[in-house]
Amino acid sequence: MSDHTGQALPDYRILPADVAARMAQIKQRDYVLEVDHVSKVFTQKRNRTVALDDIEFGVHRRELVCVVGPSGCGKSTLIRILAGLEDASSGRILMDGKPVSGPGSDRGMVFQKYTLFPWLDVCRNVMFGIEMGGVDRLEAQRQAMQWLQMIGLEQFATAYPHQLSGGMQQRVAIARALAASPRVLLMDESFSALDAQTRTKMQNYLMEIWRKIDITIVFITHDLDEAIYLADRILVLKPHPGRIEEVIEVPLSRPRRAEQMTSAEFLATKAHLEGLIRSFGTQDHVDDEDVEIDLPLLTLVTDKVE
Ligand SMILES: Nc1ncnc2c1ncn2[C@@H]1O[C@H](COP(=O)(O)OP(=O)(O)O)[C@@H](O)[C@H]1O
Ligand SMILES: [Mg+2]
Repeated sequence: MSDHTGQALPDYRILPADVAARMAQIKQRDYVLEVDHVSKVFTQKRNRTVALDDIEFGVHRRELVCVVGPSGCGKSTLIRILAGLEDASSGRILMDGKPVSGPGSDRGMVFQKYTLFPWLDVCRNVMFGIEMGGVDRLEAQRQAMQWLQMIGLEQFATAYPHQLSGGMQQRVAIARALAASPRVLLMDESFSALDAQTRTKMQNYLMEIWRKIDITIVFITHDLDEAIYLADRILVLKPHPGRIEEVIEVPLSRPRRAEQMTSAEFLATKAHLEGLIRSFGTQDHVDDEDVEIDLPLLTLVTDKVE
């Protein structure tokens, strides 16, 4: 395989030694999240859509997994099932080895659309999830301010969401999700509405936070650059029915740097992913039909999983 200049690209499956060592280490860790033969069938009048067909994978503790695939391949359905916002037709979701059903504070979610509570200031938005966990107000405020410091927005504690840019709102949404101490952070196209420059910054913020705390991340995106830049492993979903086509180990060292996006390993991985997605025969891979959800975090943080 070669890039657009005709330069030969390496095999994307060959991991540099440091990456191979890191992958080996990750694989020794337990699974935090397991998807056990999950299928999802939607039936509407005479239409029957197999959105997900026998999906089987595990995410190791502190791993960052991205899920990519063309529009309609079941990415949002999968993450909604992981979040407990949707039931699987068959199969199970396990958290730390135990089956879960319904939403729980062990899984935090950040959506594409800005979902902060508009009537609460930034600090109260972050406090919300902490207080739901039974922490008193003063302590919740102290913890919220720590989170705001972590995302570099402590000076905006008393601002309201509409006073913030899209990128800042998503940073607060991440802080709000993390403040409830989830085991897993679920992100569905969370940076897709942002401009390219802000998006890159957000990717770096996310990886910085991820390095500092014990969190496992499942990140859905249709943007291949984003998936390669962020992920330890990438799950490629194939549409109709939604199935795992391939699981790729990303051949890039950490910490990630923007310069890596022009490396031969990056380009080789991207060329392979592009080829795969083209072979699925769908015209685009842009998500345009997100299901509207009303303030889902309310359900997420109020329903505790025992
Ligand atoms: N609530 C629903 N009712 C019926 N069909 C649905 C529903 N949600 C999703 N689907 C169908 O399931 C498939 C997967 O959708 P989705 O998970 O949104 O894909 P993606 O996020 O990858 O674009 C699509 O064919 C979609 O039309
Ligand atoms: Mg989607």
